[in-house]
Order: sequence, then structure tokens, then C-alpha cells
Amino acid sequence: MTFDFDTVIDRAASDSRKWRKYAGRNILPLWVADMDFAAPPAVVAALHRRVDHGIFGYSAAMPSLLEAVVGYCAGHYGWKIEASWIVWLPGLVTGLNLAASAVGEKGDAVLTATPIYPPFMSAPRNMGRETIGVPLVPRADGRYEFDWPAMERAVTPRTKVFFLCSPHNPVGRVFTRAELEQVAAFCARHNLVLVSDDIHCDLILDDLPHIPVASLSADAAARTITLLAPSKTYNIAGLACSLAVIPDTKLRSQFVRSMAGIVPEMSPLGYAACEAAFRDSEPWRQALLDYLRGNRDCIAAFLQDHLPMIKLTPCEATYLAWLDVSALNLKNPGLFFEEHGVGLADGVQYGAPAGQFVRLNFGCPRATLTEALARMKRAVAQA
Ligand SMILES: Cc1ncc(COP(=O)(O)O)c(C=O)c1O
Repeated sequence: MTFDFDTVIDRAASDSRKWRKYAGRNILPLWVADMDFAAPPAVVAALHRRVDHGIFGYSAAMPSLLEAVVGYCAGHYGWKIEASWIVWLPGLVTGLNLAASAVGEKGDAVLTATPIYPPFMSAPRNMGRETIGVPLVPRADGRYEFDWPAMERAVTPRTKVFFLCSPHNPVGRVFTRAELEQVAAFCARHNLVLVSDDIHCDLILDDLPHIPVASLSADAAARTITLLAPSKTYNIAGLACSLAVIPDTKLRSQFVRSMAGIVPEMSPLGYAACEAAFRDSEPWRQALLDYLRGNRDCIAAFLQDHLPMIKLTPCEATYLAWLDVSALNLKNPGLFFEEHGVGLADGVQYGAPAGQFVRLNFGCPRATLTEALARMKRAVAQA
């Protein structure tokens, strides 16, 4: 089966948040993490079938959906979960906020490794908790690692939760079994609840396995809330369908209690899309990964040939390139590239120092990416 990722679909006139940001301006939006590709054909067909039914009342997850999720976790990661461990959520930012409020009390702290997807830092604060960010450290090859001595120094008696992003947005790491074992041991030693946001786990570009941290041991399972969603991989973020997997009964009921009266019902279209994504879209996903690898390699080659002062952090997973632009000596690189027609996310939003990084979303047709890179080259030539 072949799938088309090359055709440029016009989103400028659509309700896309990514494109609306620059409505009426000639700026290619490569910021927020959704892709400019149509969802898998199986997902679109399932949505058509559900729409044709014509009734959109309150919905519940069907047994076939639960089977699809359980089967996906077993088939993709060898992780045996039970349907009763699943808590449906409209989004994973909601999940991060709920997890922050479900554990401990106001005044407690949540630890995370930075740079990081911004809600990891804001969710604890929203819930009256402190966020403690410990910088990841780059190795000689540019891959980032945890700084264990700094993590040990940063943890306080009031730290109750560790927020892990696995694989990591924005630095693109797929953590190894040894690293995840260290994370689990750290959480056990300090009695932390481990919230593992695995939203990017089906977007691994290198030949590396995704290991759910909760699958490592009985202790890791008991202290972990794993956040999963088909939204990034199958490009259905707007359909608001995500889930938490919480094996421990007590932790699950704490989490569910924190949802009461606040979190809305799931939509029937979200459920339909989720089931088709997890059960029927593997050939599309494999084709997507090939295309994204091509895009990543295109960025690497372009930078080497035309912009060697910009360094691409090795991108093992995600469609998000973390670019070190510190050699350009710009105060606000996000704004600079925006003024030259490319809408990137500035690293400051992720807790990186000012002037050093931008994040580029390469989940787009190659033609869009090539044009964006050409604009970046012209921008740097004019700087
Ligand atoms: C690590 C991570 N978690 C959560 C989200 C967003 O989740 P949602 O749209 O389900 O709230 C993103 C989006 O980019 C993300 O990168």
C-alpha cells in the first residue's frame, strides 16, 4: 500500500491553530506539534462511518476500543495492561494537570528534566505546586542525558512527583532500558509518583525500542501513571482522545477523583478515530516513519551544506528538530526566523536559555520543509 505525504494540503483557510497563527502573513508555520498530513485512511473511513450514524450523544468506550488499546500495548511494546487500568482523557495536558493535583498537596513539588514541553512546567504551578527543573546535559555526540547528581541535589522532602517525557520533547531522546531503570530507581528511592508522558512513543525514527517505564517492574507499575494518545502519531490531536494507564487501584482512584466535575466526556468521534488508529493504521504509520526519516535527514544534510553553524540535536524520535542556533548570536531566534517567513518555536518556551535554541516541526510535505530551510538560509545570510 502506498500513502501520499508529498501533496501539500491547504490548511491556511482551515481551522488549524498552527496555520491561523500566521493568517494573512507569508510565514510557514513549523511550530505547534501537529502534522500537515491527512490522517490514516482507516481513521478517516471510521469517522465517516460514525458520522453517517447521525447521532452524537454521550458516549462510552466500546469493548472493541478497549481491546484495540490492550492489543496495541502488547503488540508494540510487549506491555500487558488491563482494560480496567485505562482512564480516558480529552488531552494529555489535562492528564499532566490532573496528575499534579491528584498527588500530594499544595506547596509540594514536581521534578522534571529540562528543556521540556511547557505544560510540564506550568501544570504543577497551576495546581499550587512548585516545579523543579533539572537541566539535561548534552554528551559529546549532542545526545542529552539525565544529570543524576543534579537530580539528587534538587529533590526535596516535598517532592512527590517526577514528570518524565519518554521519548523526550524537545530533545528527541529515546531513553534506554538502563536510563529508565535509573529513573524508576530514583522514584522508588524518593517515593515519587512517576508520570510518564509517552505521547511520542510511536514516532521512533531510529532502530530503538520504546520501553514503557511502567513495564520494568511491579514497583515501577505501581507508582506510574502512563499517558498515551494516538493524537501525535496519527495526526488527530483535534479529536481530543487520550488515555492514562494506571495499574495501581489507589493511585487510579486518586486520579479519577481529581477529574470529578471538571473533565468533559469523550467525544464519539474521538473514540472512533482512536480505535481505527490503534487497530488498523500500522501500514500508514510505517510509511509515515519512512517519510519523517527522510525529512530529518534532509534537515541534517541541508544544515551541513548551507548552515553549518546551526547544530541539529540527534533526533531519535518525534518530528521535532531541536536546533542549537547559539552561534548566530540572536537575542530572540524565534522572532528572527518569523520575521524571515518561518514560524518556529523559540527554545525559551521550553526552559532553554534565551538565544540558544529553536524547535522545528518537520511533520510536513518535503516541499514545505525545503522552502522553510531555504528561507532560513536567506535569513542567516541577511543577519
Ligand atoms: C510531550 C507532550 N505531551 C502532551 C502534548 C499535548 O497533548 P494534548 O494535545 O493531548 O493535550 C504534547 C504536544 O505536543 C507533547 O509533546
